[in-house]
Amino acid sequence: MDSAVLNLVFQGCFPTQHTCKQPIERFIVLRGETVKRVIISLLITVCLGLFAVTPSALAADIANGAKVFGANCAACHMGGGNVVNSAKTLRKSDLEQYNMASLEAIQVQIQRGKAAMPSFLGRLTPEQIEDVATYVLDQAEKGW
Ligand code: HEC
Repeated sequence: MDSAVLNLVFQGCFPTQHTCKQPIERFIVLRGETVKRVIISLLITVCLGLFAVTPSALAADIANGAKVFGANCAACHMGGGNVVNSAKTLRKSDLEQYNMASLEAIQVQIQRGKAAMPSFLGRLTPEQIEDVATYVLDQAEKGW
């Protein structure tokens, strides 16, 4: 092996390759990509960590919502049904059909009442209304 070939081997190139600068550059670029990937996955992990906190806060709301529901809604909506108007249950398909499948729509209806459903404004706090609406949506999602 002459010194030129040795030099190429030393640089991590195969002697058969004519241009060695390119693979080395590619290797460096690859390393840069790897570092970028590590940083991105770290950021994703941090973000997921933040999201992991949110469901537990939501779970607390839902637990309270279940209590509020039992005390104020279950008389008419036991098990997600509707004893007064059987077409308008709290099941997902009915909520969607009557444009009630959102937190906002449910909150508004709890506040205002509608037809035989009484208004809960002043009887429930805004937090309780939000909790029970969250609970209703969650149960609808789970199929009651
Ligand atoms: C006295 C019985 C009664 C009580 C108590 C009651 N509701 Fe209702 N609810 C109804 C009736 C009747 C309807 C249908 C209203 C209509 O005609 O649109 C309804 C409709 C709904 C709907 C929309 C359903 C759909 O498919 O469109 C939601 C959501 C709802 N109620 C949530 C609640 C929550 C939450 C509570 C407790 C805070 C509650 N209701 C308490 C009688 C009741």
